[in-house]
Amino acid sequence: MVAVTVTSEAGAVSTVEAEEGTQLMETLRDEGTSVQGTCGGMMSCGTCHVYVDPAWADKLPPKSEDEAAMLEAIGDLVPLRPTSRLSCQIGMHAALQGLAVEIAPPV
Ligand code: FES
Repeated sequence: MVAVTVTSEAGAVSTVEAEEGTQLMETLRDEGTSVQGTCGGMMSCGTCHVYVDPAWADKLPPKSEDEAAMLEAIGDLVPLRPTSRLSCQIGMHAALQGLAVEIAPPV
């Protein structure tokens, strides 16, 4: 399991355990955060938006064109940051042990 520190929109900090080989969105959704993952990871809903801790941003694979386009699309509705990512595109593996993210406001 990979421990991930999660800061809620209200500022509450907790730790969740994500299974290796899953997408972070699945754990955030199943742990009852405001992440919904409505499209199931197809990059078409934006309800899995998180702000990655800047210390971790470079440790993630770069955004695909589709992820960047979805983020741009929700940018009219919610604030984006340089470290905005779709958590459905963050594949969990051991090197991400201790990853920290903040849940973005709902779209
Ligand atoms: S789950 Fe829909 S864009 Fe990530």
